Amino acid sequence: MPKRLVNKNILLGVTGGIAAYKSADLARRLREAGACVRVVMTQKAKEFITPLTMQAVSGNPVHDDLFDLQAEAAMGHIELARWADAILVAPATADFIARLRQGEANDLLTTLCLAASAPIALAPAMNQAMWKNTATQENVQAVQDKGVKMFGPDAGEQACGDVGYGRMLEPLELVKQLSELFETKMLTGVNVLMTAGPTQEAIDPVRYISNASSGKMGYALAQALTEAGAKVTLISGPVSQRTPEHVTRINVISAKEMYASVMNHVHDNDIFIGVAAVADYRCKTISSQKIAKTSEELQLVLERNPDIVASVAQLDKKPFVIGFAAETENLISHARAKLFRKKLDMIIANQVGGTETGIGSDENAVTVLWCEQQQEFKRMSKQKLARELVSLIAECYKIKNDELRCLSA
Ligand code: C5P
Repeated sequence: MPKRLVNKNILLGVTGGIAAYKSADLARRLREAGACVRVVMTQKAKEFITPLTMQAVSGNPVHDDLFDLQAEAAMGHIELARWADAILVAPATADFIARLRQGEANDLLTTLCLAASAPIALAPAMNQAMWKNTATQENVQAVQDKGVKMFGPDAGEQACGDVGYGRMLEPLELVKQLSELFETKMLTGVNVLMTAGPTQEAIDPVRYISNASSGKMGYALAQALTEAGAKVTLISGPVSQRTPEHVTRINVISAKEMYASVMNHVHDNDIFIGVAAVADYRCKTISSQKIAKTSEELQLVLERNPDIVASVAQLDKKPFVIGFAAETENLISHARAKLFRKKLDMIIANQVGGTETGIGSDENAVTVLWCEQQQEFKRMSKQKLARELVSLIAECYKIKNDELRCLSA
């Protein structure tokens, strides 16, 4: 099974229909595709399948009550709504669709649907006459008009013996349609070159100078870029991140190697993003033997490494160039100065040192600066942030491209 939902938080809503017996398999298939799954069941759903089953297959406690003090203490309903990258309600009964249309918040699942900003998809499952009924069709149309996606239903034989539309789609088909929600096509046909991770600058055969970059932000961006349709080449320093599907990864160790690899590939690319925490200095001479601890003091002479992102921005035929700025103070003014000094098209600035965001952490909060403009992204998971950044990058890249086309016309 292709890992199409890696790093995606999927909130699986289960409502009270006979197709709920398939929701257990669906939860399993979602996890196989790489998703992290949390299940929310309505009271009626529990008549068809037990919370224990759903807990076992999802690997997480099941949420079923808006007024459960214990559950709220562990993960409150607003937190749960924020956690979700997508909500999939499967099966979605006629009653649930009607309540969703009304904007009701009389149970946990409808409340979450109201509170979440993530996309919502429904997999309707009901008797064919109920599906065809004008009331249901009007409700379906109304929720679709509000942006809710409809997966199915399928036609065929039903549990009640009828034949017609109203069968829930099979779990694998639901996984496929859900993963397509994340494939935005905003950057289809666009080639992106990126750097990520730290570099290591050798001192001797066993020692090096490096930094705490984990590569998480760069790899999350690489994944979001491919989901947006871009062809991504990722030049990576030493990290323990999994390479996202469809990303071409080139491993390097030092800043010099990273520079050479970037210069080798940059001409085939439309966008360059420097996410790597490149070492600014390297040892002037690398000892060929392990340095013995014979003296009380040891001095290393360092020399400057090339600035990769600035070098790319100086090329005659330069791509759209984006840099990062990790700052401990004066975030915006330092980042804006860097944007102009390095001649970048865009810079993504984040505060580091003494915060729970940035280097090494799972979350980040950034301010993006370009031309005279800026946009703030509040603290969120690096995966979610990467998707939001990719939307902004795609928008700015398109505007810049259109301007260049106008100039050359
Ligand atoms: O100047 P500073 O290191 O703060 O700039 C950070 C930005 O510059 C990041 O985009 C980083 O990838 C890039 N950079 C680079 N080569 C260097 C140093 C930084 O590409 N030698």
